[in-house]
Amino acid sequence: MEKFTSKIIEKIRNEDSQENLEITFAAIKEYLENKRYEIFPIQEELSLLNEITKDFNDLPQSSDKIITELIELGKKTTVLSSSGRYFGFVVGSSFPIAMQARLLADTWDQNSALYLMSPLASKIEELCEKWIVELLELPKSSAMGLVSGSGNATILALNAACYQLNKEERNKIKVVISKEAHATVYKALKIIGIADSQITSVETDNKGKIIIDQLPDFDKQTIVILQAGNVNGGAFDDFETICALANEKNAWVHIDGAFALYANTCQQLKHLTKGIEKADSWTVDAHKTLNTPYDNGIVLCKDKENYLNSLKVSGSYLVATKHRDGMSYTDGMSRRARAIELYATLRALGKQGVAELVYELHSQARYFADELEQLGFEVLNEVVFNQVVIHYKDDKATKELLDLINNSGVCFMSSANWQNKFVIRISVSSYKTTYNDIDECLFVIKEICAKIDNR
Ligand SMILES: Cc1ncc(COP(=O)(O)O)c(C=O)c1O
Repeated sequence: MEKFTSKIIEKIRNEDSQENLEITFAAIKEYLENKRYEIFPIQEELSLLNEITKDFNDLPQSSDKIITELIELGKKTTVLSSSGRYFGFVVGSSFPIAMQARLLADTWDQNSALYLMSPLASKIEELCEKWIVELLELPKSSAMGLVSGSGNATILALNAACYQLNKEERNKIKVVISKEAHATVYKALKIIGIADSQITSVETDNKGKIIIDQLPDFDKQTIVILQAGNVNGGAFDDFETICALANEKNAWVHIDGAFALYANTCQQLKHLTKGIEKADSWTVDAHKTLNTPYDNGIVLCKDKENYLNSLKVSGSYLVATKHRDGMSYTDGMSRRARAIELYATLRALGKQGVAELVYELHSQARYFADELEQLGFEVLNEVVFNQVVIHYKDDKATKELLDLINNSGVCFMSSANWQNKFVIRISVSSYKTTYNDIDECLFVIKEICAKIDNR
């Protein structure tokens, strides 16, 4: 039998990668020192993307060349979304400990599908489940799965809801949802096979909260989807009242708390999340408010047994042990060991650190809003958490202003159409943000406003 050995692979196997590793680490260090001012890359730098190597060559290329090219591209064309002056969408930064743990986990390349693939990942994931449930003060029985993000987590939570309410006939399920629910929740409903005709979208008030009087009657085949943190204004639904109505009818309540479920960790903001423990499932991201690197979403379900059954499969080669197998808690099988960066972050912050992070982000958002009001902006939302929604004179001026702000490089903010207005959304989500960062932005924004006013 021919013992084929690839020359290409052999060369890679025998290559000394030490030098490239050093180059990579030096580049990471330089990037973290963050010398660039512009948060969003300027057009001139973005044109470098046209020069990216496009041909998929037949023969291998040198790894030195590839890594150097990537480093150069990254320096100039990345969005500095982990900086303290990034306020777009809802995007957290990344604590150094979280990133370092992630680098280690990626180096170890652990597959957290099965205990037998990584006892380390299994043990750490089990601890994270306990810690997250404790941190958010959810029922102790709750199961936790680690996925790519809240969007994906919602699919799993709603799948578990259908499994419990009507395993056989999903078409009998009714869904009651806020008109302002996040797009990924509607996407999750599509994926799990819920038709539009099964969905009742309920009107929201001017803060973005479900209007209780507009809720339809619930029954034991209803899934009620609530929000802890409206993606624009940050409003929280009235969990206490709606969960009581749902519990009375044995309906299922899911809470999308992608960035704001953490309010429950903070004494000063806990009133917003009152009653969340009465829900059946929750989604929250570690990669937003908790500031871990991307691709770290969390699904939680009160009834562990039902949750595990909703995902249960078997295969003769999937050898189960008495230990935790990550794949039993999520879709798919192979996945990176997300728990490692989550564990490191939770340890580094402690419960008090999480609470103070949440309160600091909130205080900064309030400060931003107050100062913007002084500059003549209308703040359209009540700043209950970390979101600020602003408008300047009219839609045209607001649009123009947003472009000028983002093009100035001082920060990045995003937009939405909210309450029939074109609005600028500010999301204070990065642990790196300081009041000085906000002042720097305010200084530039003031100048831009003056320019617009003087026309
Ligand atoms: C309220 C809310 N739900 C869901 C999501 C989707 O989360 P992910 O991007 O982690 O899938 C977001 C994203 O910003 C959000 O703000």
